[in-house]
Amino acid sequence: MAVQQTTSSLDLHVDVDRTRVRASLEDALREAVQSGRLAPGARLPSSRALAADLRVARSTVVDVYEQLSAEGWLVSRHGSATTVADPVGRPSVPSGASAPTAVVPTYDLRAGTPDVTTFPRAEWTAALRTVLAAAPADALGYGDPRGRIELRQALASYLARARGVRLAPDDVVVCSGYRQSLWLLSRVLRAEGASSVAVEAFGHHAHRDVIVDAGLRTVALEVDDDGARPEHLDGHDAVVLTAAHQFPLGVVLSPVRRGEIVRWAAADRRVIVEDDYDGEFRYDRRGVGAMQALAPELVAYAGTASKTLAPGLRLAWLVLPPRLVEPVVELRRALLGQAPVLDQLVLAELLTSGRYDRHVRRTRLAYRGRRDRFVAEMAARSPGTPVLGLPAGLHSVVQLCEGDTEDAAVERASSRGLAVEGLGTYTLRPGLRPPSLVVGWATPPSHSFTAALRRLTLALAG
Ligand SMILES: Cc1ncc(COP(=O)(O)O)c(C=O)c1O
Repeated sequence: MAVQQTTSSLDLHVDVDRTRVRASLEDALREAVQSGRLAPGARLPSSRALAADLRVARSTVVDVYEQLSAEGWLVSRHGSATTVADPVGRPSVPSGASAPTAVVPTYDLRAGTPDVTTFPRAEWTAALRTVLAAAPADALGYGDPRGRIELRQALASYLARARGVRLAPDDVVVCSGYRQSLWLLSRVLRAEGASSVAVEAFGHHAHRDVIVDAGLRTVALEVDDDGARPEHLDGHDAVVLTAAHQFPLGVVLSPVRRGEIVRWAAADRRVIVEDDYDGEFRYDRRGVGAMQALAPELVAYAGTASKTLAPGLRLAWLVLPPRLVEPVVELRRALLGQAPVLDQLVLAELLTSGRYDRHVRRTRLAYRGRRDRFVAEMAARSPGTPVLGLPAGLHSVVQLCEGDTEDAAVERASSRGLAVEGLGTYTLRPGLRPPSLVVGWATPPSHSFTAALRRLTLALAG
């Protein structure tokens, strides 16, 4: 599969085919130099940085740089950066020889990242000034592993008002991303004797891996139009659910199922982990309230700033049943860290000043606009195509035509310069759903969104 990466030190788009990493990286860099995308004299990232960005071995990048230097495309000097060679003396690609074929995706419709260009920079800067002027000196010490009290208080009021969560500031533990929240919870559950956790059959492999790495077994629950099916929960110690908006299918866990799952948990002090990753983005009605309100003593509610603000902040929060607070805090303490304190204070200030709500309202409107453009484009050019998950979130699931496969559709999209993923990328138990694409609406800049959708419908058509 081709993966497009942007390296940190240079805007360097390269496609790496995971089945032939070295050769495809070599082809992609040669093509970038030959086509002029990498100008003479441009400094390439260090082999260490490029290897980390592409998640390949550093020795592979070193080999590739050496090979391309030997061929005259690059210049490597011991102790200084590798640069693009001057055109004079560069090899020419013989006519008729197979020219490098790497296609650089121009449009990105993968799900996961919000529109980070909407990050409220001015509001963040203003809030930072405010908190720096007001924060006591001891706020800059190591601090409380539960997180700053200002943020926990602000979250308590926001989550009660916006998501219907029932909580007090002492129930909150600030974490560095949902993934860390899940990491902490999984280890605490394991330490308490849990051995098996039910997850939804569709979701992130990385999240399931976090649970498995803690020494727990996972079983995948089927998901239908009413959300995760609870009938096979018996025998498990906990369940992880995206109740308000199943990721990535987009369905809501029905009230009946919510009740059944709460009764299951109540019968033997089992734990429900509610991953409320994008509950703010609902377009057809008010947001679906958090399941936590039904049973605060059983539900560990997990929220994140990754969708509403930016994933790079790594700010998230757990609202815990009282008995889990202390063990989670102790583990967080053992990690010797809390989330960066100034970021916590800034988020608290945004929440209490109402700027966070205004930002969420603005971005919700913008995402709804994108959703509407997506619906209109699909209706005009792919009429009748089943699409799931339209009323909420930042992505949908588009079913492919009979006989089509996800690999073929992803490949057709890629040859049109479009990055998009098959549902298989998020399938923990194969065979439950027809082949589909998961289409994110958030990433392409607004001006290129229509062009990206046009390419999608062309790719869907075959
Ligand atoms: C299902 C789901 N849960 C949680 C998150 C948030 O994860 P994090 O807070 O680690 O960025 C995401 C982000 O993409 C997600 O898709």
